[in-house]
Amino acid sequence: MGKDVIIACDFSGAAETFGFLDLFTGKKPFVKIGMELFYAEGPQIVRDIKARGHRIFLDLKLHDIPNTVKKAMRVLSQLDADITNLHAAGTAAMMRAALEGLMRPDGTRPLLIAVTQLTSTDETAMHNELLIDRPLNEVVLHYAQNAAAARLDGVVCSPLEAGIIHERCGSGFLTVTPGIRFADGDTGDQKRVTTPEKARELGSDYIVVGRPITQAADPVSAYLRCVKEFTE
Ligand code: C5P
Repeated sequence: MGKDVIIACDFSGAAETFGFLDLFTGKKPFVKIGMELFYAEGPQIVRDIKARGHRIFLDLKLHDIPNTVKKAMRVLSQLDADITNLHAAGTAAMMRAALEGLMRPDGTRPLLIAVTQLTSTDETAMHNELLIDRPLNEVVLHYAQNAAAARLDGVVCSPLEAGIIHERCGSGFLTVTPGIRFADGDTGDQKRVTTPEKARELGSDYIVVGRPITQAADPVSAYLRCVKEFTE
């Protein structure tokens, strides 16, 4: 695993998703299934996309008491996703329980990564609503270190944080980074954006790309451009 483009399949249903994936004749991009598609279609959408030969990042961001997360992860482990995730804010005990739940009887498990602070949470909200007084960057890094100490495989973060996270948590600790835009593209609602090439320079292991590919006039060309800029 490593250095790949993950397409965020932020679609509302299976028909639209399969219509999109059918464009990629002969290619099997790594895809991200998020809450919208999962809640619309249920677990079968994961099995169906897997059966088509794609690798899957199941982005459901679990956050509950350790026992509940452990049991939920046990169910998710049967879906054969390659990567899944949770909120680091659920504490180290929750993260360790999640890992236990994910372990399959044969000793394999999906990779598990943690969301640190959502990029939609700015420092003001973190200070005033969550009552976390420290600087945002320090909180992100500390949560990443908590995840590494709990033996998770990596974090979701901005490419801008990938370098320091690798430095503190190890080069093998995965940084999966959204907020990617082409230099000549629309930024949409993303605030801090990075090009695929810049994400590579900053050390991202995986980039998660949604609208620049899904809304492109030619999604396959946009995907190939992303892969080229990120990996070459
Ligand atoms: O369309 P776009 O490229 O902005 O999609 C980015 C994807 O990454 C979306 O599915 C979004 O929910 C997800 N994401 C993000 N920022 C985070 C965590 C996840 O943009 N911090």
